[in-house]
Amino acid sequence: MNILLRITSYTLKFKLYLILGYICTVGAVISYLLIPELLGGIVDRIDPNSTNESIYKSLNLTFLLIILFSLGCTRGAFSYGQNYFGEALSFKVSKVLRDQLYDKTQKLDFYFHDKTHTGEMMSKVIVDIEGIRMFIPMGIVRSPYVFLMFFGSIILLLIKNFELAIYACSFLVLSGFLAARMRLKLRQIWLKVQEKNAELNALLQENLNGIKVVKAFYAESHQINKFSNTNEEFKELNINVENFRAITMTTVLFAYWATLALILAIGGLKVINGEMSIGDLISFMFYMQLLAMPVRMIGWLLNASTRGSTCGKRIFEVLDTKPQIANPSNANTNFYKMKGEIIFKNVSHQFPDAKSESVKDVNLSIKKNQSISITGEAGSGKSTLVQLLLRFYDPSNGAIYIDGKNIKDINLGILRKNIGYVHQDVFIFNETFKNNISYGDPDASMDKIIEAAQIAQIHEYINSLPDKYNSLISENGANLSGGQKQRLSIARTLLLDPPILILDDSTSSVDASTEKDIQKAINKLISGRTVITIAHKLNNFQQSNNIAVMNKGEITEYGSHDHLINLNGIYKNIYELQTTN
Ligand SMILES: Nc1ncnc2c1ncn2[C@@H]1O[C@H](COP(=O)(O)OP(=O)(O)OP(=O)(O)O)[C@@H](O)[C@H]1O
Ligand SMILES: [Mg+2]
Repeated sequence: MNILLRITSYTLKFKLYLILGYICTVGAVISYLLIPELLGGIVDRIDPNSTNESIYKSLNLTFLLIILFSLGCTRGAFSYGQNYFGEALSFKVSKVLRDQLYDKTQKLDFYFHDKTHTGEMMSKVIVDIEGIRMFIPMGIVRSPYVFLMFFGSIILLLIKNFELAIYACSFLVLSGFLAARMRLKLRQIWLKVQEKNAELNALLQENLNGIKVVKAFYAESHQINKFSNTNEEFKELNINVENFRAITMTTVLFAYWATLALILAIGGLKVINGEMSIGDLISFMFYMQLLAMPVRMIGWLLNASTRGSTCGKRIFEVLDTKPQIANPSNANTNFYKMKGEIIFKNVSHQFPDAKSESVKDVNLSIKKNQSISITGEAGSGKSTLVQLLLRFYDPSNGAIYIDGKNIKDINLGILRKNIGYVHQDVFIFNETFKNNISYGDPDASMDKIIEAAQIAQIHEYINSLPDKYNSLISENGANLSGGQKQRLSIARTLLLDPPILILDDSTSSVDASTEKDIQKAINKLISGRTVITIAHKLNNFQQSNNIAVMNKGEITEYGSHDHLINLNGIYKNIYELQTTN
């Protein structure tokens, strides 16, 4: 569908505002168009030499002035209504769009998020939506105003004086040509402006997120230059838009005033020769004035519509993105607790644009309540394998079953609520400790929250803070140590008491004694659930029934600790390296 039409279709959700906006528009046009006619009539009524035998001659002057005054007030009131309903409508639509966009970004999968820059997304939510919003009062509510004023003025000009009206039209031809040229040019510039804006946002966001790295590498000036260059280009593009618009509009205005002078000269001669009354000439000049308004507005209209359509294109692109991870439509949506038997059957996965598979033909069967460990060098595919289980990605080959059911046939919410995943890259919300731990279950009791914190060995620390569980954590846990963040994220997962628990390198940043404590606590938790522990440190594996060693996406060794030692392979190598150290 055409982008502008699609934006228009959103306004239909608020029909009342749209209808009231249009009523005010028509009211404003009618009262506006009546004013010059009345004004001319009053002038002829006052002029004792006027030969114009109109109805105004017979009417009371005070009465005519009262009507003129009332028309002015009516026009003002209608203009107010037109502005109010147009703007209110635009804010209503932009709220819907912002909600939809946010909703969509929450629902889109990692195939989308992996390749989308956060800053760019923020720019879409804020700047592009504003571009669409600004199109609504101008392009949708006011465009009939422009249209009606334009044709209304022309028709009345033709009625007033056909010959003069033809001269007036010469100005329109030139304006029309300039407007068409402007639309083409603006479309190209606006697209660039929006892209630059997104780039600027992305830079800013990345810069602030990575401020520690920037400072550690003493790279502030490099970052400042990078930002300043993009900022400069953004400024230039914006100036270009305005410059281009100003040149076009000045030319249009120049043409207008030249035409007006021409008409005054020819019209003046007609009045002198008695072919036209002064009142008619004044009406005519006022209609010319009215005609200038829509012509000037065409510039704004074109600007708003080209900007609206470029912004709309960027927004609808996201809204139209279909998630690759589909939630099965006919799956049971009532929450149930899984038993936790997991089977990976010939599972392979290759990331889009990746040269090789990150997981290769993995066959792995984990019984209910079994605890297994996965190790292997960095980049060997451990995290990818467990993320396939959570359906962050779908295998390109093979299938994964939980309790005998293909996970593609399980409702996503139910699947993910049954799996507690302590992510390798911990993320902490800018919230209190309490809210961070109860993130997955906001209604959890304080006792449960404290219990989870105790198991994760973070309770004592939280209790030592002045506000205890209500203490606020800075953005992404800036006021916490790496180990504290990890323990907090373990507590968050444990609170949900999931039948399947995945710990992805979750004790890598804690000291040896805390790690032992956490391990002990987790060991207690292991009973009654299926646990997958990913770790580089092999001393964490004593509790595991089985150990899988991954190498370049494949499980190359599998079995108990003793079995793997006997195999004399990668596992034994790592083990010996770690124990001799
Ligand atoms: N989102 C992604 N897009 C493209 N490639 C990815 C993505 N995530 C991981 N990879 C690639 O897939 C491979 C496996 O990555 P994975 O994160 O599973 O390794 P890992 O075994 O967990 O490593 P580590 O021990 O360092 O955590 C790597 O080569 C990595 O570059
Ligand atoms: Mg990993």
